Amino acid sequence: MLEFKHVSYHYPATPPVIPDLSFKIEKGEFVALAGSNGAGKSTISRLSNGLLLPSSGEVTVGGFNTKTTRASQIARKVAFLFQNPDRQICQNTVREEVSFGMRVQGFPEEEIKARTEAALETFSLNGDWSPFTRSRGERQRIALASVLAGKPELVILDEPTTGLDYKECTAIMDHIAKLNREEGLTILMVCHDMELIQSYAGRVLVLNRGTLLGDGPTRQIMKDRELLSKARLRPAQIPNLALRLGAGFEDVYTVDEMAALLQKRAGHKEGEE
Ligand SMILES: Nc1ncnc2c1ncn2[C@@H]1O[C@H](COP(=O)(O)OP(=O)(O)OP(=O)(O)O)[C@@H](O)[C@H]1O
Ligand SMILES: [Mg+2]
Repeated sequence: MLEFKHVSYHYPATPPVIPDLSFKIEKGEFVALAGSNGAGKSTISRLSNGLLLPSSGEVTVGGFNTKTTRASQIARKVAFLFQNPDRQICQNTVREEVSFGMRVQGFPEEEIKARTEAALETFSLNGDWSPFTRSRGERQRIALASVLAGKPELVILDEPTTGLDYKECTAIMDHIAKLNREEGLTILMVCHDMELIQSYAGRVLVLNRGTLLGDGPTRQIMKDRELLSKARLRPAQIPNLALRLGAGFEDVYTVDEMAALLQKRAGHKEGEE
């Protein structure tokens, strides 16, 4: 679905911020791209949708090479959710906003109508609202509905939950997870919040100064303290606690797993007495 082959990138008059990067994401995966400030996460997401072109090497997305494919063609396959929804929202009603991208891409009018109404329903949005007067969480939901209405194959989320409270964050992420699970939507989530990654991603790419330090299943990466510390990332709390507790806690990654194990142990103790 997305492949980087020996990609390097430098901004005009800067040394390479990405020296030599290769990785591949298959259809249906939920991958997190983790790295601290300035690691190159946003640069990689812009390289992924052809907004930036590699200085050398190749990026292919949905079978298209970004160097030789029109941006509009890539946009049909790859949706991009900005960190700040206000960089995305530009229409006066939610309905116009949700149909805007499809209109730009030249979808037939009938299809735009049908897909817009379906997206409004899925994301519990009122099409007559003015996007600008809604809460931050609702604006993020509007932006997400807009990028997903055209049914892309890959969605890139750049820090999708910044500025959201816990409830808003969970609502947005649960929507995304459901589309991944039920419709096979491929997700690349740029993020430095290891709690969020632990809860949703199946695989993590760990980035430091434009270089991949690690790539593996979330559970494996979460327990690799050395790797996370090299990448200046703070481990998620439960896997970290499990590591400190040591023997018997090796397979514990989530609150539910920790609770189940502690309850089991408490049960044993009572049984012994
Ligand atoms: N337009 C630009 N011109 C020159 N250098 C840039 C530009 N944009 C980013 N950089 C530099 O490229 C490097 C990677 O930046 P990037 O924004 O990709 O990192 P990031 O991981 O997204 O960081 P953050 O967590 O702060 O969003 C940084 O050193 C940054 O200063
Ligand atoms: Mg960034």
